[in-house]
Amino acid sequence: MPTLKPDQIWLAPMEGVLDAPMRELLTAIGGYTLAVAEFVRVTDQVYPRRVFTRISPELFNGGKTQAGTPVRLQLLGQNPRAMAINAEKAVRLGSPGIDLNFGCPAPIVNRHLGGAALLEYPDHIEQIVRAVRERVPSDQPVSVKMRLGFRDRSAGYDIARRIEDAGADSLAIHARSRDDKYTPPAHWHEVARIRRALRIPLFINGEVWTPQDASDALRESGCQHILLARGAVSAPDLAVRLREERPQMPWAEVVELLSRMLSLLSATRGKKLASSRLKQWLNYLKREYCEAEALFSTIRRVTLEPELLSTLRSALPHVAWQIGPSPHTAESRPPEQD
Ligand SMILES: Cc1cc2nc3c(=O)[nH]c(=O)nc-3n(C[C@H](O)[C@H](O)[C@H](O)COP(=O)(O)O)c2cc1C
Repeated sequence: MPTLKPDQIWLAPMEGVLDAPMRELLTAIGGYTLAVAEFVRVTDQVYPRRVFTRISPELFNGGKTQAGTPVRLQLLGQNPRAMAINAEKAVRLGSPGIDLNFGCPAPIVNRHLGGAALLEYPDHIEQIVRAVRERVPSDQPVSVKMRLGFRDRSAGYDIARRIEDAGADSLAIHARSRDDKYTPPAHWHEVARIRRALRIPLFINGEVWTPQDASDALRESGCQHILLARGAVSAPDLAVRLREERPQMPWAEVVELLSRMLSLLSATRGKKLASSRLKQWLNYLKREYCEAEALFSTIRRVTLEPELLSTLRSALPHVAWQIGPSPHTAESRPPEQD
C-alpha cells in the first residue's frame, strides 16, 4: 500500500511541554504549517495582553516562531461571550486566528465545565463557536480541537457537524473519548464517518509516532491533515519525515537541540525549571533514542544549574552547554501594555 502523506501538519498544544522554546526548536527543523499554543483558560474576564504574550511570546514576532511558522493562541472556557471577547483580543494582538479547546480531559478543568466536559453539551459548544466566529474578523480562522466524545465516542459525529454549522474553519479530532484519556489505541477509523459528513478541513490527532502511523491514521480516518503532539516531542524531525523519506535525525543532532533548549529555557523560565524540562524532554526522547535513557540517568538527581552544566559537560564534552540569551528574554521585549 502506498504511504500517504499529510497536506498540512500542525504542531499541537501541550501545556507544560510544547511552549515557546520548544516550538522554536521544532519549527526550525521544519515541516509544520502552524503551531497551536497551550491553552489560555478563560473565565469571565477579559485578559490583559501579558496573559496572551506569556503563553505566546511569538506575538512579539508577528505571531510567528523565529523560523516563520505561525503560532495560534488557544482558548479554553465555557462562557461564550468571554470566549468571544478574548478571542477577538488575541487576534488583535497578532494571533493568526484562534483555536478552541474541547478536548482537555483534566478533572480540574472538566469540573468547571471546561475542555472535554463540554462534549456532553453540544448546544453549548455550538454557542461558543458561533459567538467566537461572529466576533473574530472573518479573515481570521477559527479552528476547533475536540475529542470524539465524553464517554461515548459516537457522540463526536453530531458535535462535529454542529461545530461546522457554527462557522468553524477547521477541526482537529483527537480520536479518543475523554474517558479514554491517553490509553492507546487512538480510534482513527471512527473519524471516517465524520470526515464524510463535513466540508471543512479535518486534522486527525492521536498516537502518531512514525511516518507509518501517519499514513495509517490518514487512510483510516480519511483526513488530509495531521496534528502532532507527543510524537513531535519524541522525534523532533517527525514532521519533515512525514513529508519526505529520509533517515531519522542522528542522536548527535538531538544533543545539539538539547543544548539549545537548555539555553533558551534558562533565559526564559528560570534555572531550576530548565533542568526539569530537560529531563522531561529526555523522557519523551527515550521512545526513539536509547541514548536519551542513559543521559536521563546521568542527570536524574541534578536540579541546580552549575551542577547540571558540569554534569552535562563531562558526559558530553564536545557540546557547548551554556546558558545563553534568547530572542524572547524580557530585556529584548517591548514594555507590556494592555
Ligand atoms: C502534557 C500534555 C499537555 C497537553 N496540553 C494540551 C493543551 O494545552 N491544549 C490541547 O488542546 N491539547 C493538549 N494536549 C493534548 C494534545 O494536544 C493531543 O491532543 C494529545 O496528546 C494526543 O495527541 P498525540 O497522541 O499526538 O500526543 C496535551 C497533551 C499532553 C500529553
